Amino acid sequence: MAKAKSTYFCQSCGYQSPKWLGKCPSCNQWNTFVEELVQKEEPTKGSWKVSSSNKLTAKPRKIDEINFEEQPRLVTQDKELNRVLGGGIVAGSLVLIGGEPGIGKSTLMLQIALSLQGLKVLYVSGEESEQQIKMRAERLEQKGADCYLLTETSTQNIFKQIEGLEPDIVVIDSIQTLHSSFIESSAGSISQVRECTAELMKFAKETATPVFLIGHITKEGTLAGPKVLEHMVDTVLQFEGDRHLVYRILRTTKNRFGSTSELGIYEMVGTGLREVSNPSEILISQREESLSGVSIGATLEGNRPLLIEVQSLVSPSNYGTPQRSSTGFDAKRLNMLLAVLEKRGGFRLGTQDVFLNIAGGLRVEDPAIDLAVCCSIASSHEDIPTNPKICFAAEVGLGGEIRAVTKIENRITEAEKLGFQTIYISKYNLKGLNLSNTKIQVKAFSKLDEVFREIF
Ligand code: TYD
Ligand code: MG
Repeated sequence: MAKAKSTYFCQSCGYQSPKWLGKCPSCNQWNTFVEELVQKEEPTKGSWKVSSSNKLTAKPRKIDEINFEEQPRLVTQDKELNRVLGGGIVAGSLVLIGGEPGIGKSTLMLQIALSLQGLKVLYVSGEESEQQIKMRAERLEQKGADCYLLTETSTQNIFKQIEGLEPDIVVIDSIQTLHSSFIESSAGSISQVRECTAELMKFAKETATPVFLIGHITKEGTLAGPKVLEHMVDTVLQFEGDRHLVYRILRTTKNRFGSTSELGIYEMVGTGLREVSNPSEILISQREESLSGVSIGATLEGNRPLLIEVQSLVSPSNYGTPQRSSTGFDAKRLNMLLAVLEKRGGFRLGTQDVFLNIAGGLRVEDPAIDLAVCCSIASSHEDIPTNPKICFAAEVGLGGEIRAVTKIENRITEAEKLGFQTIYISKYNLKGLNLSNTKIQVKAFSKLDEVFREIF
């Protein structure tokens, strides 16, 4: 065995340095260097057999001469997963699922593993015992005839089992618990995570077996061993949501086989994760009587139109500096909209506390929700409820102008589908818009005060 050698690794981006550094020259993070033992020579030797013949036959080819066939995808029963993967699981793809502890990553993967009838799935867990996983499977109330469990953390042993079993799909829970005997540092360290991922990638590509990796998220909200991993895998899915709320969002942040603007929504119930196929219905609370300070915005999450409820409360401030607090919406943008309301709308908000909340625990970054935010604040300030059958889709500019937003047709269709009577949009969105088939009334405006005159 070669002499043990140590190298310093940046835990944030994987930058290597022979000596300790305070600041990483690659990602500019401070205090991220950790010493790790590495054995330099051929780290992946013997891990998964590489057929060298491939390398010799590869020649440069004209792109036009390459036959393109859409890769066959394995379409699962889980529509939300199919959607975020771009239409199903691609053979030989390496998919990373990241998320905070307790968010439901293991539940999601086990549920998918159990639902893949007729396919041999190997679920490798380095975190839980067989009994624990069995208990979870019992809760999920699904029969998985061809789902195999393996509690193992050494990649070499895992590959040995894989050779015997020849699974169609492999799930690794989690990549941070694996270790490869070709590297000496401890499990979860950058070099281990990178090595194990590299071995699994080689396995996935050579056998065309899809591999799912579960990855933990660090305190800062990034994947542990983050950049390194994200570069290596084909698809990165982020599983997010508030642990105290039942809704979970599966978001694509990188996808070599599809769009990154996709989103799946689940609900955590007693028997696992339930797909939510029409999220707008649950995001809008069923209002019996009209309340002031509530308005509905038509946003777009990825390519998916969502109608969400914006709630605000404006009340006189008891302290010198009024409070501004927003949940699910950018605080800076809220301050900007408040200034616009003050200057262009004539609302005196300087002495008022303003609280803004996006219902359902969602975070919205789409500027198309601006008009809904403005109307909700104005409605709370004036204490006049807005008509619950109206929704909004427009951006508000600094001059109080109503600006156009992208994909207005999708928003209008979604609003119509959910039974809204009127949607307020920007005048500039009307160009090229075909409204002949829409039953919903579309009202277009160019100034914020015109909207207020209309609804209050
Ligand atoms: P888990 O999959 O263990 O999370 P992770 O692998 O991301 O750490 O899920 C944990 C939570 O999900 C746990 O707090 C319990 C809850 N849960 C349910 O509400 N219903 C269920 O059917 C299951 C299996 C879990
Ligand atoms: Mg888990």
